[in-house]
This record gives sequence, structure tokens and C-alpha cells, in this order.
Amino acid sequence: MPVLVAHEWHSYSCEHPLEKRYFKEVVVGIALITGANKGIGFETARQLVDLGHVVYLGARNVVRGADAATAIGARHVQLDVTDDDSVAQALRTIADAETRLDILVNNAGVQEFDSADGPLAMRAFDTNAVGVVRVTEAALPLLRKSAQATVVTVSSSAGSFWAVTNPARPEFHLTNAVYAASKAAATMLTLQYAKANPQMRINAIEPGYTATDMTAGFEGGRPVQDSARAVVRLATLGAAGPTGTLRDEAGELSW
Ligand SMILES: NC(=O)c1ccc[n+]([C@@H]2O[C@H](COP(=O)([O-])OP(=O)(O)OC[C@H]3O[C@@H](n4cnc5c(N)ncnc54)[C@H](OP(=O)(O)O)[C@@H]3O)[C@@H](O)[C@H]2O)c1
Repeated sequence: MPVLVAHEWHSYSCEHPLEKRYFKEVVVGIALITGANKGIGFETARQLVDLGHVVYLGARNVVRGADAATAIGARHVQLDVTDDDSVAQALRTIADAETRLDILVNNAGVQEFDSADGPLAMRAFDTNAVGVVRVTEAALPLLRKSAQATVVTVSSSAGSFWAVTNPARPEFHLTNAVYAASKAAATMLTLQYAKANPQMRINAIEPGYTATDMTAGFEGGRPVQDSARAVVRLATLGAAGPTGTLRDEAGELSW
């Protein structure tokens, strides 16, 4: 069973009464994060370690993953979300060491900026959408052993039909069709997993525009600490948290 966290989120300023209630229900547990050797995934892993969670840091490259895990006191598992054997082995490793999985963060993702073609689209969908299926399906048996299983898919508001058709939203002006479509698929998969597993909290999040390697060719972007905080908060809301939603740190987003 998850253990009540020793320290609550005193570093978070939030005046919303419902959110304060969520904070009181924060639990520590066993977490797996994909694509966690850098960027938002790495910072999410670091913050979860700081909160006292046992964190399995998934990375496709063994050296990059092991270095990242060592740096923050996490455990590395080799995990390429496009490789069924790699995903199965990673979940076997966790199952051999743990009795359950409490938190899964589907974070691994790619965004290509070259002109779209078949291979590029296949890679984007394989990573951003099919990867969610591979990892979630492999993790479900262990998640079912948790009393408060939570899945967070780091999706994107670029995959929101509402946002991309709303001229007032920045996503309206984005032209990266393949990335947007793959994230729409990731969000739909997350919603379907939520419907199929009502005993779990399963949500998709738009983390916020963030300065990472993915956005290095563009200006701006907030620090990974801010975006990871939103991911961690959603991953640790516990039983009182929402399920079957797409959201950002301000609340629920339309599909
Ligand atoms: N940055 C933003 O503004 C923003 C906004 C909305 C959503 N997102 C989403 O946030 C997530 C994290 O992105 P980021 O900005 O932190 O980008 P990032 O710094 O480029 O990190 C992406 C991570 O995904 C990993 N990855 C890629 N393909 C993988 C695969 N096949 N198997 C396992 N891991 C794989 C990368 O590993 P390698 O180091 O091995 O490549 C890296 O660890 C993505 O899903 C992205 O779409 C980001």
C-alpha cells in the first residue's frame, strides 16, 4: 500500500480549496517515467525522487539513462517505447523488484520539424501514440496491484481539436500536422484507458511550452521545473484526483 507522504507540498502556492484537499492526499509510491533521461521527464523524475517516491527512470539509451538516474537517486531501466521487447523487459525488471506500480508517466516523445513523409510520420506515431499503448499495456498488471494507480500521459494541446480550431489559441497557428495528430491519438488513448480502468486516475496533460531540446530551435519556453511540477502534481493527486481528462496546470482543457 502507498505510504502517506511525510512532507506535503508546502512549496506550492495554490489557493484553490479543492487543490488543497488534493495535496493532503499525496502519497509516495513506485513510479515509472518514460523518456526521462532529459527534459521534462528527467525533471519529473527528480521532483518525484525529492518527494520520496521510488522512481524508475526509463531511457532508451543505457548510458544516458544510467547517468541520469545516478544523478538524482533514481533507478534506471532501459526502455525504448518503440520496442516491445524493451518495454516488456523494463516492466519485468520492476515487477521482480516491486509488488506494484503506483505512478506511470508516459512522457517519451518526439517532434520532427522536417517536411512530413511516411517514415517520419511512422516514427512520430510509433513513439508518441503506439508507445503509450506498449507501455501502458505492459504496466497495467502492476498498476492494478496499486490501491491508487495513476497514469499521466504527457500529451500536448497541439493535439486538441478545440485548441487548433480556436483562433484565440496559439495552437491554431501551429502547422506541425504529424506531431499534432500523434498527440491527438495519445490523448484519445489516455481517455480510453481511463474509461476502461475506472479504479485508476488516468489523464493527459499539456505541460506548458517548455525550453527543452525538443523546442531548442524556437525562442522562449519556460523552465522544465515549472512544467514538471504540473506533471508531478497530476501524478500525485491520489484518489481524489480527476480521471479521463486533458488538462494543463490551470485545469481541464477541451478536447
Ligand atoms: N517542450 C515542450 O514545450 C512540450 C510541450 C508539449 C508537450 N511536450 C511533450 O513533453 C514530452 C517531453 O518532451 P521534452 O520537451 O522534455 O523533450 P526532450 O527534452 O526532447 O525529451 C524527450 C525524451 O523522450 C525520449 N524519447 C524519444 N524517443 C524515445 C523512445 N523511442 N523511447 C524512449 N524514450 C524516447 C528522449 O530520449 P533520447 O534522449 O534518447 O532522445 C528524451 O528523453 C514529450 O512527449 C513532448 O511531446 C513538450
